[in-house]
Amino acid sequence: MLLAKGLLAKGLLAQVFLLARGLVPVASALAGRGPGFPRIDAGSDTPADPATTGYFLNHFSLNVENLTLSTAWYNQVLGLRLIFIFRATEKFSIAYMAHSHGGRNGTGYQTVREINRQKNNIEGLLELVHYSDPSEPLVPSTVYANTFGHFGVVVPDIPAAQARFEKLGVNFIKKAGEAAKLEGPIAESYGLGGVYERDPKEAEELYQAVLAPGLMDFALVTDPDGNLIEVQSLYTPQLEF
Ligand SMILES: *[C@@H]1O[C@H](CO)[C@@H](O)[C@H](O)[C@H]1NC(C)=O
Ligand SMILES: *[C@@H]1O[C@H](CO)[C@@H](O)[C@H](O)[C@H]1NC(C)=O
Repeated sequence: MLLAKGLLAKGLLAQVFLLARGLVPVASALAGRGPGFPRIDAGSDTPADPATTGYFLNHFSLNVENLTLSTAWYNQVLGLRLIFIFRATEKFSIAYMAHSHGGRNGTGYQTVREINRQKNNIEGLLELVHYSDPSEPLVPSTVYANTFGHFGVVVPDIPAAQARFEKLGVNFIKKAGEAAKLEGPIAESYGLGGVYERDPKEAEELYQAVLAPGLMDFALVTDPDGNLIEVQSLYTPQLEF
């Protein structure tokens, strides 16, 4: 991977290479690369309303075409465990899945009932909703830009994860370390639609701007319904400001 990056390291890509290796603070390199853009507008230190203490993002939900296929995929590929499938009617079902590898260090195995007991006290749950007779086909973000963009998964070892995904036949849009134009499924799922066809110059500018802060280093894969999943490394350098 280092070699592949080294071969790509020319001009701007040389800078990207250094950024990706964490040798240049991203923000300082981004500064001065154009009149105002790319730039980072940092958030503030203002605390949130104390009344929201205890609020947290618990789950997100995807509508799926085939619940059997999707629960198997999320289990085999990403390691989410099925907590339950609630079969509301013959046609409508809801599956809840969660990561539980026994805690971050793998030492605290939980039975499915223990995970279920923690369901509203843990983060990163996935809810798969299935209606077997939808009046309209489900259109994934990789096919048509819509309000769902993608979600991100962090893995400790990207090459190892990619090798696993390959064995499992996962669909890659691109691998980590590979460049990929902002067209097709990538453009759609980042809400850019047909920017490349509309204005290749703008598409190229966009592409150069988003390479350094991440695109280059992410693997992009799709789930069985065509939803985009970013696979990021635990060790991806953060944007500095
Ligand atoms: C759903 O996926 C499973 C597993 O791949 C497959 O056996 C089944 O035929 C699929 N069901 C439909 C309705 O396509
Ligand atoms: C694993 O994590 C748990 C919870 O943080 C901790 O109590 C335990 O000592 C850790 N075990 C190892 C082997 O690191």
